[in-house]
Amino acid sequence: MSRVDRIVGFVEDRLSLDDDRDMLGKAFPAEDSFLLGEVALFCFLTLVLTGMFLGMFFEPSTSDVTYEGSVERFQGEDMPEAFVSVLHITYDIPFGMFIRRLHHWAAHLFVASIGLHMLRVFFTGAYRNPRELNWVVGTGLAALAMGAAYTGYALPFDEFASTATGIGYNLAKSIPILGGVVSKVVFGGEFPSSATIPRLYFLHVLVIPVLIGVLIAVHMGILMRQKHTEAQREGDVDTQRGIVDSDDDSRVIGLPAFPNQTAVSAVVFFLTLATLSTLAGFLPVHNVAEYGPNNPAGTPELIMPDWFLMWVYGFLKLLPSWMSFTVAGIHVNTEFIGGIVLPTLVFAAILAWPFVDFREDPIHFTANPLKRPWQTAVGVAAVVFIMIASIAGMNNIAAKVLGTETGPINALLTVAVFLGPLAAAAVTYLVLRGNRPARADRSAEEVASDD
Ligand code: HEM
Repeated sequence: MSRVDRIVGFVEDRLSLDDDRDMLGKAFPAEDSFLLGEVALFCFLTLVLTGMFLGMFFEPSTSDVTYEGSVERFQGEDMPEAFVSVLHITYDIPFGMFIRRLHHWAAHLFVASIGLHMLRVFFTGAYRNPRELNWVVGTGLAALAMGAAYTGYALPFDEFASTATGIGYNLAKSIPILGGVVSKVVFGGEFPSSATIPRLYFLHVLVIPVLIGVLIAVHMGILMRQKHTEAQREGDVDTQRGIVDSDDDSRVIGLPAFPNQTAVSAVVFFLTLATLSTLAGFLPVHNVAEYGPNNPAGTPELIMPDWFLMWVYGFLKLLPSWMSFTVAGIHVNTEFIGGIVLPTLVFAAILAWPFVDFREDPIHFTANPLKRPWQTAVGVAAVVFIMIASIAGMNNIAAKVLGTETGPINALLTVAVFLGPLAAAAVTYLVLRGNRPARADRSAEEVASDD
């Protein structure tokens, strides 16, 4: 017996793990793209740990204090305490700059890996019966991750971030009838009031992370209960526990959760941490010293949200002001339509998708996207739509690059945001149309008639 086996046996024995054999033996298909969910998980863990470090030094207050840190330019100046504490973390606390950068890059990789994980689940049809519920929970996680990043962006209270997050305040205020209450609850009154930063801080460090933690636990619980999807097998598979038929999707073939998958996950964890550490070591983030503290009288030259909210900003830029209207004394403006209604519709469409491409019977094999013409066409159209809307969010940069005004760029992008996804869907459908659907995607009658 090897030393590793002896250690495993020792732990199993002491903790009566034999009773939980099913759980520890749960098979994880050896599929690289299935690791994206784990990357998201490890980013969340990194965010919590680095956030705890930052929380020890950050001051969620906008009261003025005199700066006495090591940035020459601000010496002796009275500035908001939140801003001063972030300067302090960045330039005076040992490892402060590194941990702040680690937190920043983990937030970006968190959202990026969630987006990619969602695309993998979409394109392989892993949202179908019985996994619709986990898709719904996942959609909630995606929305919360964006909320966490947005509330964190505001905290340093520098000129750039506070102007950009002020857009969110205007959106909250634009909600007909409820706008006043919602903006007061989330932002603590007129933006930026002395309650704004404490309110966003509370949401950022407690409410949203706890909700994310709870939803991740539910997500993982459902996953353990339902087991993973698995790629359609080429033929019957000879396993240690006997031959598994190529069509038998009641059993998953893969690595046991413990110890094999645990070892793979450990590698993914350290690779995620290594990537984030490299980024944090070499790439600076949101330079608060350069932006300076929030200045109510000034407007920075460039206002931009983070990349993953750029599509929402794009809607705001593309909607013409004449789309505002008043019905029965209730005013509906373009900020509400572009910033609240359209993003809500996007999330509603994501939520509804498993019930649009609905299956009566459970499917445990993943689909090949190249063999699902219309579903893949919808996915490609959605990606193109979000990309064009995101370019619209950067219309001023596009205008600068092309040496023109934003007017013609907006006109072009307004047409493109409708026609681009349609054209992408049509081309995808036409190219894939001739492909025969994968076995798991055919009806029982079709399969029977083949055999
Ligand atoms: C904090 C965010 C998230 C975390 C930490 C997370 C984590 C995971 C992990 C570790 C898995 C198993 C491995 C894998 O298939 O990648 C998984 C599976 C799954 N996730 Fe997520 N996920 C998140 C967000 C989402 C989102 C946004 C969606 C879709 C809207 C989603 C839908 C699913 C589904 C349907 C499965 C089962 C897939 C299968 O069995 O093949 N998840 N998730």
